[in-house]
Amino acid sequence: MSQLEAKYLKDYQAPLFTISHLDLVVNLAGADTQVTATSQVLRQGQHQQALVLDGDDINLKSVKVNGEEVDYQTIDGQLSVDSTLDAFELEVVTQLDPEANLSLEGLYMSDGAYCTQCEAEGFRRVTYFLDRPDVLAIYTVTITAPKQGFPYLLSNGNLVEQGEVDALHHYVKWHDPFPKPAYLFALVAGDFDLLEDKYQTMSGRQVKLQVFVDKGNRHKAQHAIASLKKSMAWDESRFNLEYDLDIYMIVAVDFFNMGAMENKGLNVFNTKYVLADKRTATDDDYHGIESVVGHEYFHNWTGNRVTCRDWFQLSLKEGLTVFRDQEFSSDLGSRAVNRIHAIRVMKNQQFAEDAGPMAHPIRPASVIEMNNFYTVTVYNKGAEVIRMIHTLLGESRFQAGMALYIERHDGQAVTCDDFVGAMESASHVDLSQFRRWYRQAGTPVVTVTEDYDPATGCYQLTLAQMTPQTPDKLDKRPLHIPFDIELLSADGEAILSQVLDVKESTQTFIFDGLSHQPVASLLQNFSAPVRLKFDYSIEQLVHIMAFATSEVARWEASVNLFSHAIWENVAHLHSGTAMMLDPRIIDAFKGVILNAALDKALVAEILTLPSLSALIEQVEQVDLDKLAVAREFAIAQIAQFCEDELLVRFRELESMDDAGARAFKNKCLALLIQSNDLYQDIAAAQFNQADNMTNSLGALLALNGEASDVRQRLMTAFEQEWIDTPLVMDKWFSLQAALNDKDCIAHLTVLLEHQAFSLSNPNRVRSLIGMFASGNVEQFHRVDGKGYQFITDILVKLNSVNPQVAARIITPLIQFKKFDVERQRLMKASLQQLLDLPDLSKDLFEKVSKALEMA
Ligand code: TRP
Ligand code: ZN
Repeated sequence: MSQLEAKYLKDYQAPLFTISHLDLVVNLAGADTQVTATSQVLRQGQHQQALVLDGDDINLKSVKVNGEEVDYQTIDGQLSVDSTLDAFELEVVTQLDPEANLSLEGLYMSDGAYCTQCEAEGFRRVTYFLDRPDVLAIYTVTITAPKQGFPYLLSNGNLVEQGEVDALHHYVKWHDPFPKPAYLFALVAGDFDLLEDKYQTMSGRQVKLQVFVDKGNRHKAQHAIASLKKSMAWDESRFNLEYDLDIYMIVAVDFFNMGAMENKGLNVFNTKYVLADKRTATDDDYHGIESVVGHEYFHNWTGNRVTCRDWFQLSLKEGLTVFRDQEFSSDLGSRAVNRIHAIRVMKNQQFAEDAGPMAHPIRPASVIEMNNFYTVTVYNKGAEVIRMIHTLLGESRFQAGMALYIERHDGQAVTCDDFVGAMESASHVDLSQFRRWYRQAGTPVVTVTEDYDPATGCYQLTLAQMTPQTPDKLDKRPLHIPFDIELLSADGEAILSQVLDVKESTQTFIFDGLSHQPVASLLQNFSAPVRLKFDYSIEQLVHIMAFATSEVARWEASVNLFSHAIWENVAHLHSGTAMMLDPRIIDAFKGVILNAALDKALVAEILTLPSLSALIEQVEQVDLDKLAVAREFAIAQIAQFCEDELLVRFRELESMDDAGARAFKNKCLALLIQSNDLYQDIAAAQFNQADNMTNSLGALLALNGEASDVRQRLMTAFEQEWIDTPLVMDKWFSLQAALNDKDCIAHLTVLLEHQAFSLSNPNRVRSLIGMFASGNVEQFHRVDGKGYQFITDILVKLNSVNPQVAARIITPLIQFKKFDVERQRLMKASLQQLLDLPDLSKDLFEKVSKALEMA
């Protein structure tokens, strides 16, 4: 039971020992794989305690101190070695079976290749070690393996030696000169296609770049390597940060729990974020690859050279690195579209997490299973907190803060406070109140009221902030909020743009000399991760949508306008009056569709009407059935009344060959099909003529509103064409999982046996099961409970195969608070069924128990 207890940030203690050097010898031999770890151990400070090393699911063979076998104890998976020496050499031999390791943590196999995943606490599945990020060692790694099947033997740093062991086996030796925590260790052994390139850094050093992919996929690594070069150049030009080793390797594996991993000099990537060609990858996939390649590359400084003191500080590296990858994408592509995507993640997912049983600050105070804290809060809200610092300081002082942070802490394991401290010292901006963002969970609500006095020309905005209670029951204090506004005149001129510095629980801002009442565009660019409460009228929203300087503000107004219409119609459904859509709303969307001056990618975002999950996030309690009806109605109305305009734009966009045009065109197609079934043939024609995945998938997505013969025909053709391409089959599985059809679950149950599906592959699980739970709101939340039961049955199996993935899939099931009594009862019954499992993993236990405690 001790395993299930939480660890607390307040209990942090510096390590009693450190390890300066680690010499690893890994003999890869299937179920009899052996690891010999020789550590130089140094006692830290004056104490007589034993050395206690972490270990998990490995066989201990022997323990030696300075070459002599010694007595040792293992308790609760930990190895305790009693020595009175202050400095000694410790040799630990362990044996493991990578093929049996389905958790994909530690050393495991992906399609016949050995690979590792050590973040957060996976190194303890390789050897007994001080598996904590504040123990930094210099690694030397020797790998031996059969030549057959394993021509490439890779680890961190520089290759220093290689040769034959015997006729059938070979070895290599790697040395990483930079001290690193164990979570950044990596080892890969296998047979791959290799794409090579080089990069000259700003100081003139040559770096060898290598991307390893499954055989036959070399041509699909071009975009990844191009993205890597762009990342290296961007980090030099925007952050003045240069790469530090002579080689940078990326290996793509199909079995991977997350997106990618920043191991020093040897990144391991999910194939989803490497492999791409026009036929198999969409424009969005290309964009995702660029951003994840950038993200992992940027970790080299923010994460690797300066790392985390403990795992509670995860946002130190993740929030900052997400901010950096967002800036990278925004400098290279459309800043507005990138911002819109980031805002959607915050409002649709992070707000939900912050309002649910797993709510935590970006720097959590307690953790049961660390893998559960790689969250949208730590990553994405963490990035928003960094972005607010950037807003408060401005680019040049922010960069001065970054330079000081790295100068002060290079080679160290530090805290979020150290980061804020460097920002403060370099900028002389007082961030003492701002620091509360790191310890307070929950989404602050900022309620705004306006007042205009025509006699004096005085306009006032009063802002009141309040953060709702979260499960930690801690008091909420007022936060330091940069609140970006623009005031527009009646004829659409921008009168004023300003970032208000909000620090009090209630604060009034006065604007003098206005001859007419302005229209205020509030919380522009989502300048702080808060919920805005302001009763915009339809006129005001239409005005902002037409005139705001900021493209993001225009998009935001369109979301508010559409949402406004939905909630009005939900009210109509309650009172039994007829639903209607205000003609001003239809005109506003028509205006956007016809406005040739707007960026096409932005129009595509505006035509991506808010999803059910996005709408659910806007209210405290939801009547899902009425909401779904009202949403359908509003979409159908916009589609019908804009049919001619959509068709004109669709035809015009068809001949254009750029991502923005394709995105806009596919949104037109989806809406046209909502207006009339006849447009299904246009979708079929697009599908048949497509020479790229964006167009094929665009057609299928447009047809995925309901089961139809056309859809069925194209889905079958797609399956036949791509049956042997797993990443493309993931798209097909997702389309099946997202179909809002009463027989969807029966179909999915059959698909669990599909030849391309496997419960042990996280990409497959996410595309089929994850998509159903998070993306098929109506079928998942069926009032007969079949959706919950389907997911629960799978979670029971996944619990013992891959707990980390299981705990990610369960998210929608623990966020039950907004639903009606009957649905809540069903969801809790499913959770109780999981809690009663005799072998429930720590990962699921933490989430399920917290959810039921809140109930
Ligand atoms: N550090 C990785 C990133 O953000 C995240 C990651 C990859 C990870 N694989 C993991 C986290 C496995 C936990 C477990 O880029
Ligand atoms: Zn990261």
